[in-house]
Amino acid sequence: MAASTKMKTPYQNHIDKADFDHVYEPAEDSFLLIDALEKDLHYLKVKNPTFCLEVGSGSGVVITAFGMAFPNTFCISTDINFKACEMSATTANYNNVLLEPVNMDLISFFVDKKFDVIIFNPPYVVTKTEECGGTDIVASWAGGVKGREVTDRLLNMIPKKLAEDGTFYLLLIEENIPNEVVEIMKIYGYKSELVIKRRVRNEHQLVLKFYK
Ligand SMILES: C[S@@+](CC[C@H](N)C(=O)[O-])C[C@H]1O[C@@H](n2cnc3c(N)ncnc32)[C@H](O)[C@@H]1O
Repeated sequence: MAASTKMKTPYQNHIDKADFDHVYEPAEDSFLLIDALEKDLHYLKVKNPTFCLEVGSGSGVVITAFGMAFPNTFCISTDINFKACEMSATTANYNNVLLEPVNMDLISFFVDKKFDVIIFNPPYVVTKTEECGGTDIVASWAGGVKGREVTDRLLNMIPKKLAEDGTFYLLLIEENIPNEVVEIMKIYGYKSELVIKRRVRNEHQLVLKFYK
């Protein structure tokens, strides 16, 4: 039988609506990221990833979709919001995906671990710096200057945490100035490609991928 070219959307009926007062509720950006991974499914299957990470997993919908498409891949997620880690765990469990959620800042504490795939839908809204850096629901969206303060910290970690032939998927909006991100990653030695873009009301969302 031919391998599937589609990703599945994880079931989320186990989640109480009220829990989304504390954890980012999956929205168009979450689903655009899943669509980007689906578009790249053949590329990813050829790469045969074994060790993958979603940073800022929120409800866990994206990493669970990934885990459903790659059942032999060991999936880890991190989130600064403890309640998000709990929800990611239940979403993965509910969909029979093995996931290890870790409550931490970005990828700060994995020593000597290099991931085949890293995925990030960051807090990308342009805000004051002071709003950025919390551990509650505000951390879902508050991105500081250019909406990039959290993202830029992660970019700096990618060379140490991504395997040589690994791929990093990053969701951005136009206000984040994606060309600057491409230039930063070029300095770190990465090529870039636009995987998908979509206009959502007044927001222009896009997913870039970076690789060597
Ligand atoms: C836009 S939400 C995306 C949630 C989920 N990945 C999705 O696509 O639906 C951003 C997530 O990043 C988390 N986050 C923000 N700052 C973080 C940090 N420094 N380290 C880890 N996670 C962080 C937030 O708590 C939130 O869950």
